[in-house]
Amino acid sequence: MSSELNLILLGPPGAGKGTQAERLTDDFNLPYISTGEILRAAARDQTELGTLAKSYMDRGELVPDAVITAVILEALNSADARDGFLLDGFPRTLPQADALALGLEASERRLTAVILIEVPDEEVERRLSGRRVSVKTGRVYHVDFDPPKHEGRCDVDGSRLIQRDDDRPETIAKRLAVYHAETEPLADYYEERGLLRRFDGTRAPTEVHDHIRATIATLRLEDEL
Ligand code: AP5
Repeated sequence: MSSELNLILLGPPGAGKGTQAERLTDDFNLPYISTGEILRAAARDQTELGTLAKSYMDRGELVPDAVITAVILEALNSADARDGFLLDGFPRTLPQADALALGLEASERRLTAVILIEVPDEEVERRLSGRRVSVKTGRVYHVDFDPPKHEGRCDVDGSRLIQRDDDRPETIAKRLAVYHAETEPLADYYEERGLLRRFDGTRAPTEVHDHIRATIATLRLEDEL
């Protein structure tokens, strides 16, 4: 149990959390729990959660703490996540971080590390305005930095690429403001607890990946000693 990897990905919108998660889940065989993906799937299925969440997401605001916390604690207690997890998009506020700490403590688990991917606002704007996502596979592209082989089509299965509803310029600005006000304080929160690891997200995806992977591998070794 002590060597289970319980990881959080933290960083502004567009930092490359999803991009890195895709690689890290392969490296370490971890279940990936993304609040954004869970909420977007719920919105597509028009569930009660999805309809509520969409109204916040489209405005670039956070869904209420109690709503998202219940969803995530349930996911962390599922059989899939029993031996470790990679959490993306949660916590995003101090109350969410406290709720997560209590939830993990109740099941005698602890966080291994919080991976903060740092990227300045101008780069976030460039990345999100050029991001395209496959409607079927969810694979993420960028029109300049990571273009698909055929414009508008996913490399994996040729499915259509679309722009996320919350990647419009006015919503990007709002998401950044919310990040600085609500989520950025979590860096200090986890730094104080000795869990924070910082990464320069302005480097190429492969370089960012190499750095994070090496850090996690070291943490796991230290844990096993
Ligand atoms: P969520 O889906 O979590 O959005 P986010 O945190 O804003 O993050 P993104 O998915 O936009 O970016 P990313 O860091 O994954 O970047 P990506 O890898 O795609 O949340 C959406 C909404 O849900 C929230 O606004 C909120 O309403 C709600 N929500 C979610 N969690 C919540 C919570 N806990 N509480 C309350 N509400 C919550 O990369 C971006 C682009 O850059 C891509 O095009 C990619 O190809 C490119 N790229 C990636 N890495 C690089 C690189 N190194 N160099 C160049 N380009 C790169």
